[in-house]
Amino acid sequence: MCAHISDLLREIEELYRETPRHIDGGILGSMTTWPHEVGVVAFNRFIHVNGNDPALFPVVRECEEKLVSEVGSLYSAKYGLHTSGGTESNILAILAAIRNTSSRVVVAPSTVHKSIDKACILMNCKLVKIPTHPLKPVDKGVLEEKVREYKPSIIVITAGTTETGVVDPVEEVAEIAEKHGVYLHVDGAYGGLLIPFLRRHGLINVDLRIGNGVSSISVDMHKNGASPIPSSLLFFQDRDLLDNVCFDMDYMPSGKSCGLLGTRPGGAVVAAYYTWRAIGLRGYEENALRMMNHAKYLFEELSEIPGVEVYPYTLPIIVFKSLKYGDSLFNILWSRGLYLYKAPSLKALRVVIMPHHSRLHIDRLLKTLRDLHSG
Ligand SMILES: Cc1ncc(COP(=O)(O)O)c(C=O)c1O
Repeated sequence: MCAHISDLLREIEELYRETPRHIDGGILGSMTTWPHEVGVVAFNRFIHVNGNDPALFPVVRECEEKLVSEVGSLYSAKYGLHTSGGTESNILAILAAIRNTSSRVVVAPSTVHKSIDKACILMNCKLVKIPTHPLKPVDKGVLEEKVREYKPSIIVITAGTTETGVVDPVEEVAEIAEKHGVYLHVDGAYGGLLIPFLRRHGLINVDLRIGNGVSSISVDMHKNGASPIPSSLLFFQDRDLLDNVCFDMDYMPSGKSCGLLGTRPGGAVVAAYYTWRAIGLRGYEENALRMMNHAKYLFEELSEIPGVEVYPYTLPIIVFKSLKYGDSLFNILWSRGLYLYKAPSLKALRVVIMPHHSRLHIDRLLKTLRDLHSG
């Protein structure tokens, strides 16, 4: 016997009410955000569309092409594709680098996202990690030594690391990559939609750009892009690299399939494009500046709380620890509806300021921390 639709809808509403929402302000550690309303409409409207079938659903190809061209212009990129997230983009970048080579070596600082480990397990690559302090960019001298020693097919660095938001020295590493003829992937899943805007205001000195040694850059639309999940973009230096992540699929009308997934949410591609248009360059710039202001405020206020140690920041990720509560602070805060994440290599906690955050959300966290550390 099947359940009544009205009962199921009521149950779904109850589950929705019990589920944390970004706009309520408690989600403070995740790199996700409340998706833009225009993106939500676009996603729902094209919920039936298979992103793997651009012949039947040309809207997907059109939106993907416009996204690649318009978002890509921030990084001087002309070629690329929409993927399901930073993990898929990283896996594909490594695939693009190794598909036509015999070497299976990846060199990366130890601060890279875990999806690089995952990619190496999947594709049987040897991952050479350069020990790197979580608060520092990779040492380019050590990186070049490893490149000489291991002759990798790809170097991966990060423009905004997951734990602390540190940005590796893109231009210097690109020079090394070019000199040694090695593919360089820059993982900008988190920082990609912040750095170009912050750079205009002198808040960061990194030129995130395809070419001159940079073979690919990934940028997540479902992080600071404020698009519905799942949504990332992977940009390549040339068409051949893009072809390396495409496969023959002769039963499909387009004859091929690009990326890891087969059938995939076409609505996410349309949503990403319309979110991008709705927010606009000015909106992304304002978001980036507002988030940096919130980060500065949080950093300064945390520094004033006795028993709290706060670390320097580059992008709007604030990492701190409590000398009074240690690791137990994580559970204490979660039990109060303040959902921070861990920064495991510093045995600390991470707050990621995202586009939906307001001063009120940060003040609620600060008040709780002040109360916990008073007396
Ligand atoms: C730098 C970086 N790269 C890749 C990823 C993976 O992204 P996703 O969770 O969208 O697969 C993350 C996730 O936080 C990240 O911070």
